[in-house]
Amino acid sequence: MKLQNKVAVITGASRGIGRESARLFAREGAKLVLASRTKSELDALAKELMDYHDADALAFPCDVTKANEVKALIDKTIETFGRIDILLNAAGVGYLKPITELAVEEFDEMIDVNLKGTFYASKFAAEAMAKQKSGCIINIPGILGKAVMRMSSGYSASKYGVTGLSKAMTQDLMRDGVKITLLHFGGVDTSFWDKITMRVQREKMLTVQQAAEMALLSAVQPSHLVLGELVLQPESHQL
Ligand SMILES: NC(=O)c1ccc[n+]([C@@H]2O[C@H](COP(=O)([O-])OP(=O)(O)OC[C@H]3O[C@@H](n4cnc5c(N)ncnc54)[C@H](OP(=O)(O)O)[C@@H]3O)[C@@H](O)[C@H]2O)c1
Repeated sequence: MKLQNKVAVITGASRGIGRESARLFAREGAKLVLASRTKSELDALAKELMDYHDADALAFPCDVTKANEVKALIDKTIETFGRIDILLNAAGVGYLKPITELAVEEFDEMIDVNLKGTFYASKFAAEAMAKQKSGCIINIPGILGKAVMRMSSGYSASKYGVTGLSKAMTQDLMRDGVKITLLHFGGVDTSFWDKITMRVQREKMLTVQQAAEMALLSAVQPSHLVLGELVLQPESHQL
């Protein structure tokens, strides 16, 4: 098993890419700490992972916009499992609208969840990983954190922030054995798209399983190599 005894924290674990990655990581032997705001969904996933994969899985409800809750998530991980090997930041929200229609509250929420949430989790995990002299942080700016499109102003602002944060963090942490990977996915067919009014072809998107496979690839890098970034888009819709 590729992640035997590795300890992984996943934010945004209740749905979408985070949940599917949790399933795959558990199948590969990881011990998991599952975070999002919805306790019932985390509890159901933790039970599924324990029942089907005999995995150690801890549900930890947490709002990533609150620094103290994210600190408590990382502290609880260390207290329970003694270390943290992998952080997958999969919590995120998106509003894809022209700037004239994008509400101030929607912009603020994207900055708070996508950028500040990723900063809090990355910072607190990096502190523990730097002490261990090993660890892997996987962030998901998506393709809209590398290229823009119509209606992506606020979302791209938050995701370019994640890209900049991650690239600079890499410079800070490269001598401490901590690796940062950026996943630039094109559209992935998840609940992310349920509330988005822009017309999209969900059947042509990446599947959530394909996205989770890339998260796994990022989590199992050989010790002397670094997977800095990965771009994967549907062939029919490349930016
Ligand atoms: N789907 C795509 O096409 C796509 C493409 C590229 C990049 N991405 C990025 O990939 C990541 C995962 O997206 P997805 O498609 O899996 O989205 P999703 O299905 O909508 O799931 C989003 C997850 O984020 C959690 N979340 C939202 N706000 C949160 C908060 N304040 N605190 C903690 N957790 C919060 C949600 O859980 P709760 O509601 O329970 O808190 C949920 O588990 C996001 O960062 C997204 O921007 C997605």
